[in-house]
Amino acid sequence: ELTVSTTGGNHSSPYLYGFMFEDINHSGDGGIHSQLLQNNGFQGSNPNLTAYAAVGNVNLTLDTVNPLSTALPLSLRVAVPAGASGAVGFSNSGYWGIPVNADSYVSAFYIKGDYVGEVTVRLVGASSGTAYATDVFNVTSNSTQFTCIETKFQSAQAPDGNNIWTLTFDAPKVAGNALYFSLIQLYPPTFQGRTNGLKPSIANVLQDMKASFLRFPGGNNMEGNSASSRWKWNETVGPLYTRPGRQGIYRTETVVFLWLIREQGLNEYFQWTKDMDLVAVLGVWDGLSLAQSGNVITGDALKPYIQDALNELEYILGDASTTYGKLRTSHGYPNPWSLTYVEIGNEDHWWYGGPSYAERFTAFHDAIKSKYPNLVIIASTDEYFPVQKPEGIWMDYHSYGPAEKFINEFNKFDNFDRKFPYVVTEYACVSIDGAHLRQPTMQASVAEAIFMIGMERNSDVVRMAAYAPLLQNYGGYTWKNHEPNLVLFNNDPNGVFLTTSYYVQQMFATNRGHTILPVQSDGPFGPVYYVASKASSKYYVKLANYGSSTQQIQVKIEGTNSGLLTVLSGNAGAANTFGSMPVLPRTTPVVPTSGAFDIVLPGWTVAVLAAHMK
Ligand code: AHR
Repeated sequence: ELTVSTTGGNHSSPYLYGFMFEDINHSGDGGIHSQLLQNNGFQGSNPNLTAYAAVGNVNLTLDTVNPLSTALPLSLRVAVPAGASGAVGFSNSGYWGIPVNADSYVSAFYIKGDYVGEVTVRLVGASSGTAYATDVFNVTSNSTQFTCIETKFQSAQAPDGNNIWTLTFDAPKVAGNALYFSLIQLYPPTFQGRTNGLKPSIANVLQDMKASFLRFPGGNNMEGNSASSRWKWNETVGPLYTRPGRQGIYRTETVVFLWLIREQGLNEYFQWTKDMDLVAVLGVWDGLSLAQSGNVITGDALKPYIQDALNELEYILGDASTTYGKLRTSHGYPNPWSLTYVEIGNEDHWWYGGPSYAERFTAFHDAIKSKYPNLVIIASTDEYFPVQKPEGIWMDYHSYGPAEKFINEFNKFDNFDRKFPYVVTEYACVSIDGAHLRQPTMQASVAEAIFMIGMERNSDVVRMAAYAPLLQNYGGYTWKNHEPNLVLFNNDPNGVFLTTSYYVQQMFATNRGHTILPVQSDGPFGPVYYVASKASSKYYVKLANYGSSTQQIQVKIEGTNSGLLTVLSGNAGAANTFGSMPVLPRTTPVVPTSGAFDIVLPGWTVAVLAAHMK
């Protein structure tokens, strides 16, 4: 029996639930970023002709003599033999297929070589050969410089994601010669119509989560494998043809590092925060890289990187009278972005980074605070700090592990010093009984819910929390190859799959009060865990049942006479995965009898009661 007090309690953070985003698992390139063609800038040390194939009698090679820019040193050479006839060209198979589920598309490319005539772009079923879109347009190109071509066309919808994009031209007009192509792009209509924006199918489900913050650009992905392959903000801004590729982190199934093309850069991340009304948490590189064991950059050697972070902040926050604010304006963003939270590094508690973290953190903190006193600086760990922490800092704690870890951490924050707020911008239950999970199961999601209940109860000190990793492309996942992610996707028309943990995040984020209320119980925590809160016209009670037995709960809240109960429930091992979503939340109206809501929690359940004030 739970009796919720309608008064008292502690203030709840308005930003508690949010996103941690980094481009691993093709979550950006080939994921939430809307550009659909793979290897479209031929970047990386050895891009080969990945995703390309010849159409008709042509020879495809990568060319170094006709670069589009220094950032894009390779182009696609399409050589047409003497005497060739008909339509010839090349195809791109996208990121393991192309979703053809929109009414219109925009394609753009750069072309060099003598050609005056028709070019045809098509979206075609890879096995069926069915053309869902055919766009014929005139192109005039010469051999002295690249010409940029952009075309918009209508499309029918394909039944699956097994589609390719093709570009063909008139062979006799080039016979015995070659054409060169670079920065080849295909976009569906984007989320909120942004140029170079987000893919709506994935952005919409994130929008539905009603999150409050976005931490970017990582994670280990920000750190890179070395100082030179760290995430460099200045290489992610400006026209796309000026953005070089970058070696991403983690290995693909074929043990090749992922090259990221960086169409999704600093401005695109901030646009995302604006379009989903999210508070930005910007990570800056602090001398520690992923594969840099023992080689952390410290002391004077760190100074250029501190200056680089200051330049980045001026780019984000400066007006047009500043060097970098002017640069941002020249990139089409006249208004400074909104930024309050800056995190120094990522997971600096690791043994080779930890001992020097206090020094590195302090150097960044002091330099940033002296120029931007209103920014809140977040330390990426609470370890390795001098006893006297700088006032006003927040700290990040990450938690990956087995289900028991999350049960044990239910009360982790109960007695934390309220003077130093925390964020928990990465956590996930990754194993059950020693077995690694490929996607969250109901037991894992209930364990996370219990940890979240613990954080919400302490959300006067825990200000932000996010599951990680956020997104996983079925074709190209790289997060230790097998571990769970929140949202899974492929290219099929209904190819976005929401895990049980996604639904827990959504249930918790969409039912938030401003004050956490005291709750009196006639039993201890476990197997049922709970937290209650108050909003302007509702009370919320979040419940989790970590066990296979059904639990009967009575919830008393004075001054309520109706409510809605949302329940997510399944067997311990039940999971939503690619192609199948058996576990869905169900919402039903409920009324109290004899002054209490009678709630039945089946085994392995997460539930939220939203009770209306009379
Ligand atoms: O979320 C995946 C990885 O886990 C992040 O890159 C890193 O910060 C953490 O170790």
